[in-house]
Amino acid sequence: MPDTPAYPVGLRLAGRRVVVLGGGTVTQRRLPALVAAGADITVISPSATPSVEAMAEAGEITWERRRYREGDLADAWYALIATDDDAANTRASAEAEAHRVWAVRSDDAEAATAWTPATGRTSGVTVAVLTGRDPRRSAALRDAIVDGLRDGSLGAPHRRARSGGVALVGGGPGDRDLITVRGRRLLAEADVVVADRLGPRDLLDELPPHVEVIDAAKIPYGRAMAQQAINDALVAHARAGRFVVRLKGGDPYVFGRGMEEVQQLTREGIPVTVVPGISSSVSVPAAVGIPVTHRGVAHEFTVASGHVAPDDPQSLVDWEALARLRGTLVLLMAVEKIGAIAATLVRHGRAPDTPVAVVQEGTMAAERRVDATLATVAGVVEAEGVRPPAVIVVGPVVGVGAEG
Ligand SMILES: C[S@@+](CC[C@H](N)C(=O)[O-])C[C@H]1O[C@@H](n2cnc3c(N)ncnc32)[C@H](O)[C@@H]1O
Repeated sequence: MPDTPAYPVGLRLAGRRVVVLGGGTVTQRRLPALVAAGADITVISPSATPSVEAMAEAGEITWERRRYREGDLADAWYALIATDDDAANTRASAEAEAHRVWAVRSDDAEAATAWTPATGRTSGVTVAVLTGRDPRRSAALRDAIVDGLRDGSLGAPHRRARSGGVALVGGGPGDRDLITVRGRRLLAEADVVVADRLGPRDLLDELPPHVEVIDAAKIPYGRAMAQQAINDALVAHARAGRFVVRLKGGDPYVFGRGMEEVQQLTREGIPVTVVPGISSSVSVPAAVGIPVTHRGVAHEFTVASGHVAPDDPQSLVDWEALARLRGTLVLLMAVEKIGAIAATLVRHGRAPDTPVAVVQEGTMAAERRVDATLATVAGVVEAEGVRPPAVIVVGPVVGVGAEG
């Protein structure tokens, strides 16, 4: 009956005996899902791959180092028959049939009583695809479905189960692909998105028309008031039962005022989830080929804000101490004050010829990098017309290139 479709079913294997014959790569590939399902797994095989062996050592499976014997499948709920001995596989299949144990066979799908679908899991959904005899197509379909669920392009109707909360989502440095999978998924579930100027703004164009997008940069108040107005907007929408995504550039807690928003929401009794993001402080240097650490070159990196000048009484940064460090200094919000910052670093001991890279609009279409030294950076920034947002990297890592 070659065209009879398989009957799909989800086996609940937790605590139930599963016997796996063979310890090779097929077994290795199948075991993680069986372990994740909580099955009581016995692998029977004289030898095993290092990964299978490691799972036995970790106590995730029991490994009996021997060949298959008649009777091994008697108490099993489910079996995977994957030895390299065809005759043994055939005997084991016959035993599984006799005991009515559903069995998958790696060497002969037609002789098996069960088939393993291509599976994937995301956001509480298990996707299982069976195409009969085309495992590549099954895998490709599985990937397409899982990717679609992850990036929100495939709608998952559980969105209505989520109401009235706020997710603070770190959107990464700007490139639409550099948001996390979780961030992308929550964005796809939003009723309201409050977005900053930085971050993956391209993604906003793709939101369905019913989603209200509030541009936080356009909230008309002074600086301090703007934050209060944003907090108030988050509270008001969440109170009205909407699911609000507060989309921020980079990571919400790296100079992102994320905790202020969390505190206010918590005070108001509104559930809030924080999704970390890829901070520009490490990703923007990486995007232009600068590693913030490199063996033998830099054993530390420090991230500092340069939004207030070093001699400003409001500055919380110990610039003298930073000048004594030999590793990498990453400066955010420092374009305007870079002259005073560079001069302070040099005055307190950092070499004037220390390499500096200024990266404007990293990971975005307009990305550009200009190179200088501590002695020249102020002039170069001025002459090149560098504008925020920019990340400034100071230290010998700036000169470490891919060519080594
Ligand atoms: C208010 S801070 C927010 C940082 C953000 N939370 C993060 O983790 O990247 C804004 C500063 O981050 C830096 N920045 C953020 N995205 C950037 C990008 N794509 N290219 C260059 N600098 C960026 C700039 O220094 C900018 O002035």
